[in-house]
Amino acid sequence: MTNGPNSKPHLGGSVTPPSNGDAILFSGPADRNKAPLLTVLQALLPTQGSVLEIASGTGQHVEWFASHCPQITWHPSDPAADCRASVNARVAVAQLPNVVSAIDLDVLGNWPELVAEGVCVANMLHISPPETLPALVEGVAGVLVTGGFLLVYGPFKQNGQFTSKGNAAFDESLKSRDARWGIRDVEQLIATAEEYGLGYEQTIAMPANNMSVILRRA
Ligand SMILES: C[S@@+](CC[C@H](N)C(=O)[O-])C[C@H]1O[C@@H](n2cnc3c(N)ncnc32)[C@H](O)[C@@H]1O
Repeated sequence: MTNGPNSKPHLGGSVTPPSNGDAILFSGPADRNKAPLLTVLQALLPTQGSVLEIASGTGQHVEWFASHCPQITWHPSDPAADCRASVNARVAVAQLPNVVSAIDLDVLGNWPELVAEGVCVANMLHISPPETLPALVEGVAGVLVTGGFLLVYGPFKQNGQFTSKGNAAFDESLKSRDARWGIRDVEQLIATAEEYGLGYEQTIAMPANNMSVILRRA
């Protein structure tokens, strides 16, 4: 596939970009997984409240979620300035009144003063160093209301094993880009979450050998 002149590819695969605006980034995988992710989210969302999205990337997810779930105030975030610009540009083009301006949030840094009924994060833990896992969980525990959910989506190992040959090859390619990156163990996520008071609820198998892991603040 080719990239158009007005849209830049983003980490995560080949692209078929939209043509609206220089700031707007596009990810092929995000386009493909936004609908299955919305189905998972819809079962978790309250009738009203706030959801923090960590590592919003291109903004395709939050744009999709917010347009389908207008009862929720969405708080996208990303430490990368070009990603925040893409999120904000998408939200402006789509005219979504229920999305606030993207927050500059690195899970390893300071967290915003925010209270949320839910937090979602897709495809971050394998494209960041291992310490982002405990930092994510600790930060989320400080943001979530009692009973609030954390949805973590992405590829994971189970019982120390890759769930597919494709994920094993992906892990190798991640490590060749940065030795500290790599597919994490789902058991490590669950155990760390439990240390911070987030109970394990469910793992849902997702397309392309990904998983949605759902945790809830007790
Ligand atoms: C592969 S992209 C995923 C974007 C989007 N969630 C998706 O699934 O399409 C990884 C994202 O993680 C973000 N990221 C990397 N390290 C991070 C950190 N320490 N804290 C928060 N976000 C981080 C990057 O800026 C990037 O937008």
